[in-house]
Amino acid sequence: MLIKSFRNDEFVDREKEIKFLLDWFNKIPKEILWLYGPKSCGKTTLIEYIVENELFEDFENLKPKDNYWVRYINLRGKLISSYETFLESFIKPEEEYITQKGISAGVSIAVITLKAEVLKQVKERKKDLFDALIDELNKKLKKENKKPILIIDEIQTLEDIYINGEREFLKEFLNFCVRLTKELHLSHVVILSSNTIFINRIYNEAKLKETSTFYKIDHLDKETTFKYLDYHNIPKEKQSLIWDYLGGSIYRLQKFLRDRDKFASIEDYLNKQVELALSEIKHIFIMEMENEEIDIFKQIAKTIAENGFYLLKDKEDKKFVKVVSFMSQKEILFFDPLSDKIKGNNRLYEKAFERLN
Ligand SMILES: Nc1ncnc2c1ncn2[C@@H]1O[C@H](COP(=O)(O)OP(=O)(O)OP(=O)(O)O)[C@@H](O)[C@H]1O
Ligand SMILES: [Mg+2]
Repeated sequence: MLIKSFRNDEFVDREKEIKFLLDWFNKIPKEILWLYGPKSCGKTTLIEYIVENELFEDFENLKPKDNYWVRYINLRGKLISSYETFLESFIKPEEEYITQKGISAGVSIAVITLKAEVLKQVKERKKDLFDALIDELNKKLKKENKKPILIIDEIQTLEDIYINGEREFLKEFLNFCVRLTKELHLSHVVILSSNTIFINRIYNEAKLKETSTFYKIDHLDKETTFKYLDYHNIPKEKQSLIWDYLGGSIYRLQKFLRDRDKFASIEDYLNKQVELALSEIKHIFIMEMENEEIDIFKQIAKTIAENGFYLLKDKEDKKFVKVVSFMSQKEILFFDPLSDKIKGNNRLYEKAFERLN
């Protein structure tokens, strides 16, 4: 395990994932790559680290490594309510954009430019946006021999957006991604989502399944977690206990390192966190769930507490599926569409499941 510095903070491990992604980018684009994993496990941080440190020689001055041509669009927090707002946010006229000064590197790589004339045609619906983008990428490749990589985070934001009232934007966007990878081998496409119910829908669409690879970014494993705790001088005899309560969630481990001094002991801290997780779940029960749904959830939670996971079977009662879906949206459960296994979104919730009755 390595600890590097990223944005004046620590960047923990992820060597395996970085290697996987860099190997991926060195191959000819043939499939869309989907990155998924539990909430807050570090998907966005990982991809941003890779973009800024592995795909650029000098990120601030936008000097790419190895002829990469990278575009990274994070849709979180963006108010994309229509096709028009998407265009406004991410597609800019080349002539104007290049002359603008003082645009930060992060903003620059979130924008794709088209010739003003072409963009006008797109806005007037005389030219298809995706055809125009493919033309643009083709030109780039031919003239400058670039290796394009397109990365989109929080893709589910594009659901329920329509072009012309009836064409589904997300569908067309994913079609575009299939063309870029499987059909034209023009550009790599990496898509991230923290919403595995959404990923599950995609995974079950034959066309996308055949044209995609799904790669899970998980919490840290046990060995790496222990090394990380060693690095922060946490006594060996406490490490198993911390692993049992927090698992390898980097977010939870960092929070523990920040806050533990405010508590009488490590045990006290961990216990308090489980209580908070438990009250979060009970709050959802009271505010948002029917009694029957609560009973179903308790059955699932009990199985997870006892066996480590709950397996969603093919012929599962619809009501179970609904509860799993709801509690995954609430980020209490994590549903892995590839294995159909359901766990707590992180270990702390599983400890809370032990106390549910
Ligand atoms: N490898 C890492 N090293 C250090 N800190 C990390 C690492 N990965 C994640 N973090 C920290 O954990 C927190 C959550 O990470 P991040 O937002 O990247 O997760 P995510 O999986 O993208 O979450 P979401 O499911 O909400 O999209 C952040 O505060 C981030 O700084
Ligand atoms: Mg994220």
